[in-house]
Amino acid sequence: MQITVTVNGERYTRGVEPRLLLVHFLRDDLGLTGTHWGCDTSNCGVCAVWLDGAPVKSCTVLAVMADGHEVRTVEGLAHGAELDPVQQGFVACHGLQCGFCTPGMMMTARWLLDHDPDPSEEDIREAVSGQLCRCTGYENIVRSIRWAAEHGGAARPAEEDAGREEVRT
Ligand code: FES
Ligand code: FES
Repeated sequence: MQITVTVNGERYTRGVEPRLLLVHFLRDDLGLTGTHWGCDTSNCGVCAVWLDGAPVKSCTVLAVMADGHEVRTVEGLAHGAELDPVQQGFVACHGLQCGFCTPGMMMTARWLLDHDPDPSEEDIREAVSGQLCRCTGYENIVRSIRWAAEHGGAARPAEEDAGREEVRT
């Protein structure tokens, strides 16, 4: 069946099988491989993206469920050439080692800071509690998100990025 999904402000229309998962639609059909796929049990959270402004595990969503909706992935986090403060925080505080969990962590962090610009360490740990990092021990991830909060990481109006919608078929 044919679906149209807006991803990072660009509209894509594709024919998909009804059983296709959103994570595979993003990676395989659209080539947006920043969203990772790390398990078959919906436990790891590396596939986290936003669906209509809320974080979801994209391995638990069918692509057809995103038809007519808006998705934001890690590729849509930066503002042009300027990295989002969350991305800058992960660089500044070494919030990654292998980087496999990082896109999902950053999408959740962005959502958290949009809703709570000054989260405590406990708030941060709770926000990312559905996501597994096999490398860092989480300490530097928490520091990275705190860094973002302290360096202009509060919500940035979505309107700034609006108006750049393109149609891709
Ligand atoms: S790929 Fe592991 S929770 Fe989605
Ligand atoms: S940095 Fe390797 S899984 Fe998190």
